[in-house]
Amino acid sequence: MAKMWAGRTDGVTSKIADDFNSSISFDSRMYKEDITGSMAHAAMLASKNIITQAEADELINGLSGILEDLETGKLPIDPEAEDIHMFVESVLTERIGDTGKKLHTARSRNDQVALDLRLYLRSQMESFGEKLNTLEHVITDKAEEYKSVIMPGYTHLQRAQPITFGHHLMAYAQMFLRDIDRLKDTKRRMNVSPIGSCALAGTTYDTDRRFEAERLGFDSVGANSIDGVSDRDYALELLSDLSIIMMHLSRFSEEIVLWSSWEFKFIELSDEFTTGSSIMPQKKNPDMAELVRGKTGRVYGDLMALLTTLKGLPLAYNKDMQEDKESVFDAVDTVHICLDVFTGMLGGMKAIPENMRKAAGMGFINATDLADYLVGKGMPFREAYKISGRIVSECIKRGTVLEMLPLEEYKSYSGLFDEDLYEAIDMENCVNKRTSEGGTCTASVEKQIADVRKMLH
Ligand code: ARG
Repeated sequence: MAKMWAGRTDGVTSKIADDFNSSISFDSRMYKEDITGSMAHAAMLASKNIITQAEADELINGLSGILEDLETGKLPIDPEAEDIHMFVESVLTERIGDTGKKLHTARSRNDQVALDLRLYLRSQMESFGEKLNTLEHVITDKAEEYKSVIMPGYTHLQRAQPITFGHHLMAYAQMFLRDIDRLKDTKRRMNVSPIGSCALAGTTYDTDRRFEAERLGFDSVGANSIDGVSDRDYALELLSDLSIIMMHLSRFSEEIVLWSSWEFKFIELSDEFTTGSSIMPQKKNPDMAELVRGKTGRVYGDLMALLTTLKGLPLAYNKDMQEDKESVFDAVDTVHICLDVFTGMLGGMKAIPENMRKAAGMGFINATDLADYLVGKGMPFREAYKISGRIVSECIKRGTVLEMLPLEEYKSYSGLFDEDLYEAIDMENCVNKRTSEGGTCTASVEKQIADVRKMLH
């Protein structure tokens, strides 16, 4: 069958070219945005007397019938259609006749593509915001539960200083808070209307771009028609935001994988979010966390794919840009499922405080506090650091820990040591003395939890 754009050519293309060119298999998910955009366009054309009000009503009624039939499944998407824009327009003309052919006045498909993608991604972003919000609630609830549970904090994956599990979890709360903020920031630049740019140069019709923008919930109208149809920054920005969300989920997943290993055994995941092995009967594998970590690479790939697609493109629209959708949709779908699964998995995660506490007792993570004790008695920090290091080394040799070394031994290193040193290196005290803003003491964790909860809705 001849294409709607037959004219310059007979519009008959080879099957293989058709299949290669078609985007309906992936852009049909924007049917709602396409139809809403067309409704606003029809209303604008009537408001400027480019078509009559009766014609606009006919177009809008026809479009709303199509929307309803697509939604209920009464109207199947035609896989032979070139894309969602052509599909909707051809069904409309089939249904309402010649008036349908007036819809595309003062508009281009380049306009539609740019508009639909912005609208679609805008609504996805709202849903990401909600999912991150839910995740934050799970994190703060867990942090509350474990606000006094002591574990080793790590640097270089070496035991470093005592912290609480609640404090550790709240670090992630801050990351996801920034993610929510980043999405809001991206939305500010995304929410600019491209519609009315037309093919690339604007139009000779007396259109009203602001009318359409307002109807579609945009904050403003793009200032340059060439940019309007060429810009995909908003998709790149969203892909960057999504990549960073995945990076955060992936780091968290990595820790969950480590913590649930027998080497750590700091946590236990629920049966619902773990799997077994086909051969090893003892296994309980953290597959969900591993998959989230794995899918992170895929979202980064989507960002790289679009950056690369765009890098050499001359202005304005080029067909290469059709490739934007599969990348961005893949990333959107991946992040949705990862947020859902991760949040469910985290909700069922239980800490094993005894094991965390045991690990905190080995590894000399109170050595900084020992040095600080000497500083408190008047010794310069560098000197105190050196002496504490030598004491740690002695303990390692003897197979003991700082808490068990007798006072006489301590005194042989410095006359400043006294009985109260044991209080200074007591693990609970080490944690609760870290009262600096944002520190690990329970009061600080409580404040962090309250502050984050206040910021959520
Ligand atoms: N399906 C196409 C896309 O997603 C629409 C193409 C529009 N424009 C054109 N002049 N061929 O990019």
